[in-house]
Amino acid sequence: RILILDFGSQVTQLIARRLRESGVYCEVWPFTADEARIRAFAPRGIILSGGPASVTEGASPRAPQAVFGMGLPILGICYGQQTMAHQLGGVVEGGHAREFGRAFIEVTGDCAITQGVWAKGAREQVWMSHGDRITELPPGFRVVAASGGAPFALIADDARHFYGTMFHPEVVHTPHGAALLRNFTGAVCGCAGDWTMGAFRAEAIARIRAQVGTGRVICGLSGGVDSSVAAVLLHEAIGDQLTCIYVDHGLMRAKESEQVVRTFRDRFNIKLVHRDASELFLGQLSGVTDPEVKRKTIGRLFIEVFEEEQQKIGGADFLAQGTLYPDVIESVSATGGPSVTIKSHHNVGGLPAHMRMQLVEPLRDLFKDEVRVLGRELGMPEEIVGRHPFPGPGLAIRIPGEVTREKADILRQADTIYLEEIRNAGLYDAIWQAFAVLLPVRTVGVMGDGRTYDSACALRAVTSTDGMTADVYPFDMGFLTRVANRIVNEVRGINRVTYDITSKPPGTIEWE
Ligand code: XMP
Repeated sequence: RILILDFGSQVTQLIARRLRESGVYCEVWPFTADEARIRAFAPRGIILSGGPASVTEGASPRAPQAVFGMGLPILGICYGQQTMAHQLGGVVEGGHAREFGRAFIEVTGDCAITQGVWAKGAREQVWMSHGDRITELPPGFRVVAASGGAPFALIADDARHFYGTMFHPEVVHTPHGAALLRNFTGAVCGCAGDWTMGAFRAEAIARIRAQVGTGRVICGLSGGVDSSVAAVLLHEAIGDQLTCIYVDHGLMRAKESEQVVRTFRDRFNIKLVHRDASELFLGQLSGVTDPEVKRKTIGRLFIEVFEEEQQKIGGADFLAQGTLYPDVIESVSATGGPSVTIKSHHNVGGLPAHMRMQLVEPLRDLFKDEVRVLGRELGMPEEIVGRHPFPGPGLAIRIPGEVTREKADILRQADTIYLEEIRNAGLYDAIWQAFAVLLPVRTVGVMGDGRTYDSACALRAVTSTDGMTADVYPFDMGFLTRVANRIVNEVRGINRVTYDITSKPPGTIEWE
């Protein structure tokens, strides 16, 4: 196992992810972790992450000095490299030109990290993100790769097995970064690389049991991948101490509610409260057209209904959520960080403080595709595990303007046809998310001999790895016209279909 000490970089979890992908178990701890705890954890190596601070500032974070005396291999990345150099007697200076993004470096030597990956003399692409730089190496270190702007791009102290990179090997923009990390964990630290999601499952279950004890847990189930996998994992850990609450706001896709109930109650034997609150939600959404008001209304009602249901079952000590790592990053900015709130995701802010339940978030270190692997490991059906993401506010944010039951019914039909055609064409898994949007625009058409004056519908399909950026899926025209024909012919209320060809950014995936 490897310990990652976090100095606050946006991409620290990517280090963990790359390690897990190569079959190495790791944990991410804050850099303030104390020596005794680190020794008890008994890692085979330590990675010091990047971070936003500058080593040249007096109060900037440092690695616990003791880690350099434990006889363990250490890899310092970006800020981690600088603090290591500083703490071992080198010199780091600020005020240099900041270097961000793609850069090329020259491999001037070799070491255990570059073995079989980078050849001496090669020019290699890396991803840089730094302001300060080392100007004098600590004793024992030598340079293995460099560029004009980064003379100490990769440094090594072979005797102590200390390595430092000025670039980020964990991001995909450093093409051989994962292989460099594998050399560190394998060749240098001696990790076998045989850890699997099966092991994660066992560890997660042990962690849940340790946290929850004999307490009662409730889990808000949305039918989406994240909360579904969290629920099944929790059920495996604590059985009937878990109750799931499914608040049906009437804005789900076709047949989704029945499927959720069937899967969780019948197949997994999970205690499930199914509350049909569509009247309430649609009633309160009547007349609401502003997207943020819509989102907030749904968020508020969701909490109210959830609270009611949890009181009915006599309350609980813990609230389980399927929070993923990207939600953690996004919600940091959503709750007052420096970045702007683009949309208020209704299920990220969580429940009000007066509900006073401790959170159980067994997936908060994972990325979506890892959660899918875990779901399969838990024996969950592909129709849930492989399902496209679906937003908490449901179809409401795919109906610009006022939401009504009638519009939701029309949209559901169009959406069903679209997804059916996508599945028939074998394209479902190649697409991150595909859905129809019902536009608040009526246009003139002709059907048979008659004039129509009905709504227009937009189709959207994107590829993405994490939902943060997205590209338009390039359907061929034959596919699109087939879907358009079916929708116009089969769905009463829609007489025109368009395809949305906006990427994210500048668009967002959803229309509201
Ligand atoms: P946007 O539209 O912001 O969406 O590009 C990015 C991803 O997030 C989903 N999304 C949500 N998911 N609650 C959710 O659970 C929400 O309020 C919400 N809004 C957007 C969206 O479907 C896409 O996958």
